[in-house]
Amino acid sequence: MSNRVGIIGWRGMVGSVLIQRMQAENDFDGLDVTFFSTSQAGEPGPALGGAARPLQDALDVDTLREMDILVTCQGGDYTKKIHPQLRASGWTGYWIDAASALRMNAESTIVLDPVNRPVIQAALDRGDKDFIGGNCTVSLMLLAVHRLIEMNWVDWITSMTYQSASGAGAAQMKELVRQMAQIGERAGTAAADPQYPVLEVEQHVSDLLRSADLATDHFGAPLAASLIPWIDRAMDNGQTREEWKGQAEANKILALDPPLPIDGQCVRVGAMRCHSQGLTIKLKQDIPLTDIEAAVRESNPWVRVIPNEKSATLAGLTPAAVSGTLDIAIGRLRKMTLGPDYLTAFTVGDQLLWGAAEPVRRMLNIVLGRV
Ligand code: HSE
Repeated sequence: MSNRVGIIGWRGMVGSVLIQRMQAENDFDGLDVTFFSTSQAGEPGPALGGAARPLQDALDVDTLREMDILVTCQGGDYTKKIHPQLRASGWTGYWIDAASALRMNAESTIVLDPVNRPVIQAALDRGDKDFIGGNCTVSLMLLAVHRLIEMNWVDWITSMTYQSASGAGAAQMKELVRQMAQIGERAGTAAADPQYPVLEVEQHVSDLLRSADLATDHFGAPLAASLIPWIDRAMDNGQTREEWKGQAEANKILALDPPLPIDGQCVRVGAMRCHSQGLTIKLKQDIPLTDIEAAVRESNPWVRVIPNEKSATLAGLTPAAVSGTLDIAIGRLRKMTLGPDYLTAFTVGDQLLWGAAEPVRRMLNIVLGRV
């Protein structure tokens, strides 16, 4: 197929990771790429995928319509504004989007090709044109445990999440670091003094967390030295929307019928860019742990099974260890004391890579017929 590709939102956090990954994989070779901007049309664009050309106006539907494929990390508001106009104009190109706006539309496919390549292929064969990256938490969970679901071993899953600041946005990430710095300024010297009473160190920190001095404009609460058990907006049933997405998106990604029940609590913690999840998996029968580990290990090239040992866990099953890599670490695998058909696991993945940019990057290559 022809390869006029337009990229929108390439300077933001997810977009920057997308561009880094495309460069690392030489995706720009042989591509004719036009870079769009909502605010800086006319300024010089990057020399990637052809010679550097001026940035085009991301709000100009006529220019967007010239593209065969549009890839956007610009966010949901942009999608809601531009996608209907493009489709109404008769544009039949591929729309590949990191934002959630179109995810649950009947015409959209949620892309996570190591997990749902057949679902993607069926959509392409039908002539569908909207391909949307999934919620980060859902994608990272499925990459870790999709084989157990495919084996028809799973009755239900609960996921207790430990989600990084990056999932909330770039400004929130900086706010977390700012909060950490403020804590250091307030209590760092005392904490470094072995003679200083620890409860007074704690009091300095707690006083700061409860004071108006702490930077909380973006999170609305302390995250450093604390956590926030609420992500996204409220649903009518008491879930948050992040919690609702677990079942809704996972079932759509895998095209499961009947649906697999998935629910849990989604919590923001002070990690930078890795989402972690503690899973409880109710098995349909007593599957031996060795069979489960083997199935997970072979499920895709990115999954890393970490032995359920302290040293291996500290070395490999933390946001600090996984951050910036495409690894999907899964460990703490064991049968629970609740019974032999209750499995627990802990998984960590980079929210900006497999959680956002990578499925989008790979979908572009699928549409281009490169993989
Ligand atoms: N909603 C996610 C979060 C990020 O807040 O962590 C993107 O899917």
